[in-house]
Amino acid sequence: MRAWQVTANGEPADVLRLVDAPDPEPAADQVLVRVRAAALNFPDILLCRGTYQERPPLPFTPGIELTGEVVRAPAGSDLRPGDRVLGGTSAAGGAFAELAVLRATDAYRVPDGMPDEQAAALYLTYQTGHVGLHHRARLQPGETLLVTAGAGGVGSAAIQLGKAAGATVIACAGGPDKVQVCRELGADHAIDYLAEDLVARVKELTGGRGADVVYDPVGGDIFDAARRIVAWEGRLVVVGFTSGRIPSAPANHLLVKNYSVVGLHWGQYRTHDPAVITAAHADLERLYAEGAISPLVSSTFPMAELPQALTALASRRTVGKVVVKVAAG
Ligand SMILES: NC(=O)c1ccc[n+]([C@@H]2O[C@H](COP(=O)([O-])OP(=O)(O)OC[C@H]3O[C@@H](n4cnc5c(N)ncnc54)[C@H](OP(=O)(O)O)[C@@H]3O)[C@@H](O)[C@H]2O)c1
Repeated sequence: MRAWQVTANGEPADVLRLVDAPDPEPAADQVLVRVRAAALNFPDILLCRGTYQERPPLPFTPGIELTGEVVRAPAGSDLRPGDRVLGGTSAAGGAFAELAVLRATDAYRVPDGMPDEQAAALYLTYQTGHVGLHHRARLQPGETLLVTAGAGGVGSAAIQLGKAAGATVIACAGGPDKVQVCRELGADHAIDYLAEDLVARVKELTGGRGADVVYDPVGGDIFDAARRIVAWEGRLVVVGFTSGRIPSAPANHLLVKNYSVVGLHWGQYRTHDPAVITAAHADLERLYAEGAISPLVSSTFPMAELPQALTALASRRTVGKVVVKVAAG
């Protein structure tokens, strides 16, 4: 099969090679799929650079969420060859290839009528939002949710999920075009944090209270600002560090302002508590069927252009999800 491989750590465009590789051999609990579409995630870039929390041995094939067609399913699974499934590979990846393996428990039938490109983004991206907002932050109807990098992958999902949960959503993003995307995704208020004072604007919009829940994939200066505008008894969810700086929260600040900083490592639920993922997926299917969520796929690249697609994601130019199309549907 044709597969992208990371041959050394560095920028995606420098270290990715499209190679002929042996077909992957599924383990007893894994399903083999022919990949139809694979969604890009910021961790793919970090995995190429060797700066992600997991560092697979070289060479490896990146790509962590996909839509595929079942080729072979393990005994006892209710999946059949030909079924169209969405799901996630292991942390080491494998989705940027013609064939991939994933645990049968991490593969779900694609909802009726859902295009491959959107289905590829329903797993990790929306799971992270759902588990982060509901299981970790306990977001309640009527609360205020602040989403940073709201026009990005996990941010765009969090805006939709926040609205679906009955929250008032304030989104922030870099630049007027991204702010417009946040509004179109359903945000009640959108702030351009490259041009406006984020702290002052959120205080103004919340009557000085701040946001009950902050969902922050950016870290760095944005996390520092978020600590100033998280409400009494608020929950600040640490999603990621696309800014490149891992911030700190002094314990005395948590005490004085009476808020919580909530860590989120969604992938670990696959081993620690898979029932959380199963329950979230059932709710995501319901929300999709009701039209409350719909992954924003802004650009689709052919498989051969994966390095360009990852470079675009790394350079902060993309909105929503970027997907590579691997096989024709
Ligand atoms: N905790 C978990 O379980 C989990 C799961 C999935 C993903 N994540 C994390 O979530 C984060 C977002 O991932 P994603 O795939 O959804 O990416 P993305 O949001 O599509 O892209 C990253 C966004 O971060 C913002 N950003 C701010 N400073 C940046 C910089 N210096 N360079 C690049 N981008 C910058 C940009 O939005 P603006 O221009 O609007 O600022 C950019 O669009 C990543 O850190 C990822 O590791 C965590």
